[in-house]
Amino acid sequence: MSDSQPVILTCAQPTGGLTIGNYLGAIKNWADMLESNNCFFGIVDQHAITVDYTPSELRQNTLSCVAQYIACGLDPEKSNIFVQSHVTGHTELAWVLSCITPLGELQRMTQFKDKTKHLNKEDESHSDDDSQSKVFINSGLLMYPVLMAADILLYNAHSVPVGADQKQHLELCRNLAQRFNHKYSDTFNVPEPYIAKQGQRIMSLQDPSRKMSKSDVNQNATLFLLDDPKIIRKKIMSAVTDSSSKIEVSEDKPGVTNLLNIYSSFNNESPEAIAEKYIGKGYGDLKSDLADLVVSKLSPVQERYQELMNDKKYLESVLKQGAENAQKLAFKTLRKVYKKAGFLNRF
Ligand code: TRP
Repeated sequence: MSDSQPVILTCAQPTGGLTIGNYLGAIKNWADMLESNNCFFGIVDQHAITVDYTPSELRQNTLSCVAQYIACGLDPEKSNIFVQSHVTGHTELAWVLSCITPLGELQRMTQFKDKTKHLNKEDESHSDDDSQSKVFINSGLLMYPVLMAADILLYNAHSVPVGADQKQHLELCRNLAQRFNHKYSDTFNVPEPYIAKQGQRIMSLQDPSRKMSKSDVNQNATLFLLDDPKIIRKKIMSAVTDSSSKIEVSEDKPGVTNLLNIYSSFNNESPEAIAEKYIGKGYGDLKSDLADLVVSKLSPVQERYQELMNDKKYLESVLKQGAENAQKLAFKTLRKVYKKAGFLNRF
């Protein structure tokens, strides 16, 4: 990485473990970008407190997330892995950006509406006196996309790998960059989303019409990177397949197609070529082979993860270096922004 290379930045919340969807659809691809880009990988703990959470778990999950990233192939020698709260500038820039963000735009965000739908109902059933102890819509949830825009613009990122569900947030970020540039003067690069192709999307094992998600309530729907081999096997063997038993890639066979896609992502053969090998065989054969494959591919990742978690000193040194590198860029941007905003120089 060097300062003259394009900046690629992406962030993840340290909530729960990574899924194989995160691994195959995202992290594995990022690992290929390290050579020719200046990559920043943020673990956004400040975003994570917009929902109900336990501080000790957040701390533990943040470190675990770093170890999972590295175990998946993000080489800290070739990229910058940092924790959001370690870098001064994210919330500072978010404040400045919030002052050019119309309230209505935030209230119309799909994710905000989704996340507050059930809270709204609970809100109505409690009087104001309850507000201390009960759930309410916190303003952080509304401000979330502005903080996300700050994460991106603080590093003047060119390209931002995100899931399709984050497209609207990225659109807001682009608007804010343009609005700032227009109101003050040219400052921010307008970042491009980098969205993985549909084919690379890994779907739920229990409902192949939905994306595999770490927050799925159905325990069998999601394969986690750190799942025990026994659990992996059990989840794959009980994956939902389709009515006819023919193994093929087809739109009306989303279950089998998903299994073939997972297979293909792990062994790099095309799903069609894999399907051909199963002519005359049944779903059970495919599932059993897939389970073997997934277990064998994940086992080195899991071993590396354990090693890293046993070496906290090393993880801390990665985060120290990551935060230092990130801070340099962050201060540079923040200084520029403060100056343009009319804040008096600090003497
Ligand atoms: N909102 C993103 C998610 O939930 C996480 C995120 C926060 C992010 N800041 C970001 C992603 C900046 C990319 C860039 O997935």
